[in-house]
Amino acid sequence: MNIKLLKDEVEQWISDYFGDKQEVNIRNFEAMSYSIKVGGKRIRPILMLLTYSLYKEDFESILPFASALEMIHTYSLIHDDLPSMDNDDLRRGKPTNHKIYGEAIAILAGDGLLNEAMIIMLNECLDGNLNKIKASALIAKASGAEGMIAGQICDILSEGKVISEEELLYMHRNKTGQLIIAAILSGATLGNASEEDLSALKMFGDKLGLAFQIKDDILDVVGDVAILGKNVKSDECNNKTTFITMYGLAKCKAKCNDLTQECFQILKGLKANTNYLEEITEFLLKREY
Ligand code: IPE
Ligand code: IPE
Ligand code: MG
Ligand code: MG
Ligand code: MG
Repeated sequence: MNIKLLKDEVEQWISDYFGDKQEVNIRNFEAMSYSIKVGGKRIRPILMLLTYSLYKEDFESILPFASALEMIHTYSLIHDDLPSMDNDDLRRGKPTNHKIYGEAIAILAGDGLLNEAMIIMLNECLDGNLNKIKASALIAKASGAEGMIAGQICDILSEGKVISEEELLYMHRNKTGQLIIAAILSGATLGNASEEDLSALKMFGDKLGLAFQIKDDILDVVGDVAILGKNVKSDECNNKTTFITMYGLAKCKAKCNDLTQECFQILKGLKANTNYLEEITEFLLKREY
């Protein structure tokens, strides 16, 4: 098993899922497929599969959950890019969904992806397996009004305002951290991890998620559009408060480094072999996209 293989498996699952949906409601499925198939790092499904693999060998069995989470993430990106939100026209190296399909269809494509994800997870739960039900519930909660959406609300309401460090952390932990934590914890839950491991992995996810959004803020300033696949200076254009506006570039890089080291420490404390999780943690620190 390697990370590239896991990514390919997720791509295949998603492609198969949308492959036979072409006949009904074609416009909506076309718009959903466009954003989900256009690419992306697939970090959240990979994190779920790798965490699950600390405990079990049959990662294929949780591909529906991993893909559902990626659908939820992709919906959040489609909506995040809308003119009424960040008003971005480039995503994953391609025009944003609303640039191709118009705002109304883009909103509905986002709604569609979210609901398809819930359907996939609920169907998986029909066998009554408690771990699957728990994993679905934690993914739904992390995506919801007390999770990713709470962070996005905070992000939008903070535009052009000076906010406290506490508020900034709340925003980042929710808008980005929640889905990253959910990826890790759902993988662990599906793998039947112990309570002790779950609490360590929650801390790992929290630090990784925070580092991930700080890095995202850094790339918005120093990234190369051709590699990043989205426009830079979007945050500045929208008068966002980010880690960069709060601490400056040098401190952000240092914080990212520190958080990554803390992630390694937590992983080292687990009994299972965490080599792949360490590899992806390192990749996320060094990434340029
Ligand atoms: C971008 O997420 C949005 C954030 C939550 C920071 P990713 O950087 O994971 O985007 P993709 O999925 O690779 O396009
Ligand atoms: C978005 O944060 C987080 C989401 C929930 C989608 P950003 O607005 O910074 O993400 P990018 O930079 O557009 O990918
Ligand atoms: Mg945003
Ligand atoms: Mg954005
Ligand atoms: Mg950003």
